[in-house]
Amino acid sequence: MAESEVDLESEQYEKHREAGRILSQVREETAERVEVGASHLEVAEYAEDRIRELGGKPAFPVNISIDEEAAHATPSIDDDSTFGEEMINLDIGVHVDGWLADTAITVDLSGNPELAEAPEEALEAAIDVIEPGVETGEIGAEIEDVIDGYGFNPVVNLTGHGLGHWEQHTSPNIPNRAVSQGTTLEVGDVVAIEPFATDGGGKVTEGSSEEIFSLEREGNVRNRQARAALDQITEEFRTLPFATRWLETDRPKMALRRLKRSDIVHGYPVLKEDDGCLVSQKEHTLIVTESGCEVTTE
Ligand code: CO
Repeated sequence: MAESEVDLESEQYEKHREAGRILSQVREETAERVEVGASHLEVAEYAEDRIRELGGKPAFPVNISIDEEAAHATPSIDDDSTFGEEMINLDIGVHVDGWLADTAITVDLSGNPELAEAPEEALEAAIDVIEPGVETGEIGAEIEDVIDGYGFNPVVNLTGHGLGHWEQHTSPNIPNRAVSQGTTLEVGDVVAIEPFATDGGGKVTEGSSEEIFSLEREGNVRNRQARAALDQITEEFRTLPFATRWLETDRPKMALRRLKRSDIVHGYPVLKEDDGCLVSQKEHTLIVTESGCEVTTE
């Protein structure tokens, strides 16, 4: 007998499942709204409002990544951009009382169906090998194999991750390539697996724009707007990422600048491949079970 029994029917896992059910529905409904001419801001707000209507909360701002962008892009407060004939990744998260689900889908309006397909097939192959004791390096090898087979590169400096209570990125990392020093998955682990494929070099770098932030540490600020923002952050988002446009104080950008300068919050710069490249993505959250795994965002 195992020395520690994990109860997969406990409230914590039921909340992970509830977050996953809400998220699956929102992902599909949101993807349908992505079309040439549709507004980024309206699509992001649609998803975030639907999550709340269905009884969850957004676990992080809806990421809308275009073409060479891979992660951490979300519309600004006054964003007026619209979709074109592009490769579009939607990465969406839901939490129920801090228990998370995380999923992503690529909507291809650029006419590159194979690139959009590669991470989907890679994710299926990864899910197929998941069971207690599987090494994360083996999961990465499956992902790399499939994406290589399509003639594309996996993005190797982005990884899947564990999901903790009020924490969107915890150990273990799930690599998108074969690695030798990994860790093993155990019954009860909740992880997000997210293969990225690209026709670029397979390594993203930080861009200059930053619309997503999270709390770094407790602290005090004197400025009134910064203090109001900090109160909202600690009460509502806690340690989860949030967007500038979610802040209710007037002058949110100034408030954030002050909180950043005091190292109370940190930003997530947009991560991207080189100009002219395309990136696609697919992600599911799953719970490791005795016999394999249960995908909560199917
Ligand atoms: Co994720």
